[in-house]
Amino acid sequence: MRVLSGIQPSGRLHIGNYFGAIRQHLQLQAENEGFYFVADYHAMTSGPKPEDLRQYKLAVAMDYLALGLDTEKTVFWCQSDVPEVTELFWLLSCVTPMGLLQRCVSYKDKVAQGLSANHALFAYPVLQAADILIFDSDIVPVGADQKQHIEVTRDIAGYFNNTFGETFVIPKDHIVESVAVVPGVDGQKMSKSYNNTIEIFEPEKSVKKKVMRMVTDSTPVEAPKDPDKCNVFALLRLVASESELKEWDQKYRKGGTGYGDAKKKLAELLIEYFKPYRQKREELEKDLGYVNKVLKDGAQRAKAVASKTLARARKAVGLD
Ligand code: ADP
Ligand code: TRP
Repeated sequence: MRVLSGIQPSGRLHIGNYFGAIRQHLQLQAENEGFYFVADYHAMTSGPKPEDLRQYKLAVAMDYLALGLDTEKTVFWCQSDVPEVTELFWLLSCVTPMGLLQRCVSYKDKVAQGLSANHALFAYPVLQAADILIFDSDIVPVGADQKQHIEVTRDIAGYFNNTFGETFVIPKDHIVESVAVVPGVDGQKMSKSYNNTIEIFEPEKSVKKKVMRMVTDSTPVEAPKDPDKCNVFALLRLVASESELKEWDQKYRKGGTGYGDAKKKLAELLIEYFKPYRQKREELEKDLGYVNKVLKDGAQRAKAVASKTLARARKAVGLD
């Protein structure tokens, strides 16, 4: 099966991105043909400064490589190095009803968060559809918030196939429901745009500081606490072993343990969890030539596939 996903370089990657998306991407590469890319065209919709876009792009690539992306097996590139997707975006736009995009919640959410309501932000799902369809993707692993975009992709592929004849593979989504939403330090969804993240490769000291400042309710130390209503416990679920989790579940329910203790444990486990990848991340930082080469090689491999699908679509619409 061909598995494809993209991740936006709109900031430093955080543990919500890891447990909601990256971990699945890396697991799926073993048994599938992985196609993963840094979605820099998409990141432009949030209006980054050019120097930030450059910097975050490389940081995302280094994070993936440090966390275990297999460069032999998996195709890994930067979206804008395969501009064929932008042409397919246009062909797809011509069969995409406005109503389909008007129903997309991510556009409304982003405008509500203060992003300017420009055309690219509105058309964002069509570019995402082009990303997916140009590589004949079978499966698209994403976090739960992206499910609607995969449905839109399926709809657009359907409209195109109905209008111009069978051209595109209709993809499936792949969502791990058990880690649907990872909360941030303030209890809202962890997101680069809410300033509430714990970055995957943030300095250990700073991980500790952020965890110790996580928002909890005011239940006194002696009183029993509900693990299902606690952000700290939600993150513990991601990094603790089954037996540790059981132990902490009991401590919460019994009372007598404060949130401070749970936070200390969480900081310790988070640091331990990502420790094996830290050294690799530091080595990559010193070898940007290698990182750029991986991306360039990946772009070549991706282009070989994309240009064939684009030619097929051009022919279908009569642009050959
Ligand atoms: P952000 O909200 O930080 O900008 P993105 O929208 O770039 O994150 O998401 C990248 C990937 O990570 C997506 O597949 C998304 O579903 C997943 N993801 C982002 N935040 C979370 C979260 N808090 N919990 C689970 N998955 C998340
Ligand atoms: N929209 C996705 C996100 O914000 C990123 C993305 C762009 C993507 N193109 C894609 C994900 C294609 C999967 C497939 O997370």
